[in-house]
Amino acid sequence: MAVLPTETVYGLAGVGTNLSVVRKIFELKGRPAHNPLIMHVLGIREAQHISHITPFASKLADSFWPGPLTFVLPKREIVPYEVTAGLDTVALRSPAHPLFRSMLMEVNKPLAAPSANRTNQISPTTAIEVLDEFGEDCPPILDGGICDIGLESTVLDLSSKKARILRLGPISAKEIEIVLKQKVETPSDTIKPDGNANKSPGNATKHYAPQTPVLLHKNLQSLIQSKEVSKRDVVIVPFENEIPSVEQKTKQVLSFSSTISNLEIAKNLYSKLRQADKMNPPFIHLSLIDGEEGITDAINDRLIRASSQNPLTSQ
Ligand code: TXA
Ligand code: MG
Repeated sequence: MAVLPTETVYGLAGVGTNLSVVRKIFELKGRPAHNPLIMHVLGIREAQHISHITPFASKLADSFWPGPLTFVLPKREIVPYEVTAGLDTVALRSPAHPLFRSMLMEVNKPLAAPSANRTNQISPTTAIEVLDEFGEDCPPILDGGICDIGLESTVLDLSSKKARILRLGPISAKEIEIVLKQKVETPSDTIKPDGNANKSPGNATKHYAPQTPVLLHKNLQSLIQSKEVSKRDVVIVPFENEIPSVEQKTKQVLSFSSTISNLEIAKNLYSKLRQADKMNPPFIHLSLIDGEEGITDAINDRLIRASSQNPLTSQ
């Protein structure tokens, strides 16, 4: 077992066909047995060995692999039910990070790799955050610097006729629809009012959450006007140039990005949440972000999960 960098977040990796390794991964994460792991492979040929590849999957792999798109497909026998939490499907993706890929070539077996955090904590995007997460129990880490994307892969269910996104991520529904030439269901189509989604067992609403309670405002303007922000609270604004707009409320203001880029917000999102959490304020205030880019929906999905509530409507 080792911690390896991917282009999305760090993964706690081990040979996915080795039962005792798989059990160790579950144990170290404190992950409930009903939440399955993602298998990582070099490409579609290796994916064939562990799953039944559908025409949709091979089309999408041509366009997006290696990259942050995970397919859920019918599993082959070689995949232990411990990995899939008893399901007949397996999640798999081909990571783009060169260090992860060289490990896959070396080992020549699929690697199970959930995000390298304890269950319900924020995914790590740097080696130091992984160390922080596991402390003395930490397996060896291959340090690849900060992860380029910073948000977990899009999880796409291809195990039935209709393609369905189970977890929003860096590859958007629109990009997938262009390749498949048909509509893709998204969690907002399937999510229930209580926010408890669909078929992805790990997709509980309360996830990716810091220890400190998070209050999510519907936009920066309503955060600025909110009476709920106290001097002791921490505010994280989307962009650095917006910091002065909240400084009359609290001096503890961070920003997700020093440039006007939602991709940069995604990259820094989890680190900034960790940083704010460490400041140990009564509350962390965030606001939903605007933007056209596909990554925007994934960022807002994680912000909602971090706050595990709907955006505040107070003005
Ligand atoms: O970007 C990523 O996907 C990262 C890096 C390390 O590759 N990995 C990651 O793994 O986020 P993890 O285990 O933290 O999240 C996997 C998600 C969970 O929500 C899990 O429930 C879902 O994928 N999943 C796994 N197998 C599934 C299956 N057979 N059917 C439906 N959902 C599945
Ligand atoms: Mg995770």
